[in-house]
Amino acid sequence: MKILVTGCAGFIGSNISERLLKLGHEVIGVDNFDVYYSRSQKEKNLLPILLHPHFRLVEDNLATMPLIKVIKGINAVVHLAAQPGVRNSWGASFQKYVTNNLLVTQRLLEETKGYRLKKFVYASSSSVYGQITGKLNEEMKLQPKSPYGVTKLAAEHLCDLYHHEYKMPTLSLRFFSVYGPKQRPDMAFHKFCHAISNELPLTIYGNGQQIRDFTFVDDVTDIVVEALGNDLCGETINVGGGTACTLLDAIAILEGFYGKPSMKTFLERQKGDVESTQADTAKLEKFFSKKPSTSLIDGLALEWKWFHEFLNAENQEQAIKNDRPDSQRQKPS
Ligand SMILES: NC(=O)c1ccc[n+]([C@@H]2O[C@H](COP(=O)([O-])OP(=O)(O)OC[C@H]3O[C@@H](n4cnc5c(N)ncnc54)[C@H](O)[C@@H]3O)[C@@H](O)[C@H]2O)c1
Repeated sequence: MKILVTGCAGFIGSNISERLLKLGHEVIGVDNFDVYYSRSQKEKNLLPILLHPHFRLVEDNLATMPLIKVIKGINAVVHLAAQPGVRNSWGASFQKYVTNNLLVTQRLLEETKGYRLKKFVYASSSSVYGQITGKLNEEMKLQPKSPYGVTKLAAEHLCDLYHHEYKMPTLSLRFFSVYGPKQRPDMAFHKFCHAISNELPLTIYGNGQQIRDFTFVDDVTDIVVEALGNDLCGETINVGGGTACTLLDAIAILEGFYGKPSMKTFLERQKGDVESTQADTAKLEKFFSKKPSTSLIDGLALEWKWFHEFLNAENQEQAIKNDRPDSQRQKPS
């Protein structure tokens, strides 16, 4: 299939694109290398696939670009491009969330509604649930606790609308705290790897007892790949790890890899952070052949390994830059 992957340079998008290419699909990847985090990390994310003969990277903004540039001839869409981050979504930055999460989704749906797509997979989030404790199932009343969650939920509704009005084969997958290689630098495990490896104090918002259903990125990819191949549409499904644990337990695993306990600083819980997100995966199990199963210790070991390779590459790049004679150094603009 020829598949449009939006947000292909990001954490989940680059992992999914790599897998789709391995499976023999053609991937048109779009990303605007948003400044939310470093271009350098996104470029490294793409390194394994950049030269793949079946991969085409289009660097552009989905909110403004002529979409025809990337949708011609496609059979499916995996829509991951978004402005992530719960904490930053308050205040003036909400505008960016509305544009990248809502407007972009509407544009994509509108432009592809006339296509005979096999599937339009939308990456939604457990953030749509809000402050509900216990297992979260798809039938529950949704009360997002952050502006980010509001935009993710609104985009889900758009996918449903286009399914009902235009018979579009949309499927919303609610991801629960995804982790693994290439994880975003603003996400907890990436930050913890950094702090523990550098023996820096580790900042924890709240008491560290918040429970998350951590989901390994390869498990998310498995589900997306299966979704592209099945007939399920017009549905919303939790994609959660089945490995719920507290932040402190996860930190203890990383400390074990390093071989030393870390210093911890506890700060006040942030607005929008919820106490517990645990996925009820009954619906996922009903429609899919498997559910996420990677154990936290195995998944974290892979993220830890990636983090150190990534860090080494960054340090080497910096060392090369520092070694250059002054005349070859880039002048600050
Ligand atoms: N990481 C998680 O734990 C998690 C959990 C739930 C849902 N999700 C959802 O999964 C998706 C991917 O998340 P991620 O963690 O990989 O984030 P990410 O920031 O690493 O990837 C998103 C990518 O989209 C790109 N992008 C943003 N706006 C764009 C635009 N207007 N035009 C073109 N490209 C644009 C960014 O440059 C970025 O590379 C998002 O939709 C997010 O809401 C992620």
